[in-house]
Amino acid sequence: MKLRGPAGALRGSAELPGDKSISHRALLHAALSPHESRLQNVLRAGVTAAMIDCLRKLGVSIEGTGSDLNVRGGTWQQPTVPLDCGNSGTTMRLLLGALAGMPLQVELTGTPGLRRRPMGRVARPLREMGASISADNAPLNVRGGGLRGREHHLQVASAQVKAALLLAALQADGTTTIHQPAPSRDHSERMLRELGINVLSSAHAVRLHPSGRPLPPTRLTVPGDFSSAAFLLAAAVLLPGSAVRLRGVGVNPTRIGLLDTLNAMGADISIENRRESGGEPVADITARYSRLRAVEVRGELVVRMIDEFPIFAVMATQAEGMTTVRDAAELRVKESDRISVLAAELQRMGITISERPDGFSLSGPQQLSAATVDSHADHRLAMSLAVGALLASGESSVQRAGAVHESFPAFAHTLRALGAEVR
Ligand code: S3P
Repeated sequence: MKLRGPAGALRGSAELPGDKSISHRALLHAALSPHESRLQNVLRAGVTAAMIDCLRKLGVSIEGTGSDLNVRGGTWQQPTVPLDCGNSGTTMRLLLGALAGMPLQVELTGTPGLRRRPMGRVARPLREMGASISADNAPLNVRGGGLRGREHHLQVASAQVKAALLLAALQADGTTTIHQPAPSRDHSERMLRELGINVLSSAHAVRLHPSGRPLPPTRLTVPGDFSSAAFLLAAAVLLPGSAVRLRGVGVNPTRIGLLDTLNAMGADISIENRRESGGEPVADITARYSRLRAVEVRGELVVRMIDEFPIFAVMATQAEGMTTVRDAAELRVKESDRISVLAAELQRMGITISERPDGFSLSGPQQLSAATVDSHADHRLAMSLAVGALLASGESSVQRAGAVHESFPAFAHTLRALGAEVR
């Protein structure tokens, strides 16, 4: 992807693709129901293509064009081939949880990048419930069935682990309780409650008591993805004269830590037209060019903005003062090592940034220089570097930018429609 900066003002409005986390969960919950579910505005991108392909190989019927799908599942069938989760950690972890409850023997695999990511954090508690899982990294075999509910104490605040355990808990004998060190995104809990499942939750624990009956059908319109919106909000805040309105974005409080951080930085962001869709809060968000001051991000806030650190780092380069991120070692096991790779690519754009074991710090404002940078096949890094390129003077090139198809295929098109020069 090639971008020319410094870009002029971005103006206009845009809609976002469906939320990645909610799309994955909606597909799985629908796949566990023998009734026909109707899902609208499902994210159609690399990560959900992997999930849909795996579910079809398990005998789940998924029909429809574009983002509106009819899904009918129920009893899953023994697949005849290994299931390829592509580069999607959510697909592999959530499928592991669902398969842990099924009397099938399934091999899960994925790209070399996915095979490096930690699966033991899901496999270990699922083994304690009775599943047999051959390894802590892909490729791995899962043989499920006969699960017993139990109490889990998670070491990391991971919504993927929590969601996987809830999928297993639905199929277990007895109650499952999950204690988490900090509140993580609660889409599974909300969706299951909408389906009439007995799920009790507080900030640090979730308890599920299975009904013993198959899940009812899911009917849901997936909200726009806040994590995709973040790139456009950032571009609007950073480019003088900009005003961008994003319609129908999910504003679940467990997801929008970046908005709290941007408020503290002095960004001009307004939220209007608040409403609910399928148990999730949705709103329109308008971002305008603002001068930013630096902040420190640490503790539970990190979990609520875990996917937004690459774009936050780009914004921090323009903030007055010292930005520090702590308690964010989880960034090292995302689609790339999002601390060292981010620091290395921002350095190529002339930024001075220091890496820490659990975060980074940088002093701003600093001028970004046009450069050739690499996404390291990480979709969020590709889009963050693209926004950085809009601030630099001259033409920049983001290599391996095809990664944006993992979560936001229309990214370049949307930026262009708002006025940026992107090829
Ligand atoms: C996700 C949770 C987060 C996030 C990922 C999606 C989810 O991962 O980074 O993109 O859908 O639950 P962790 O829960 O592992 O932090």
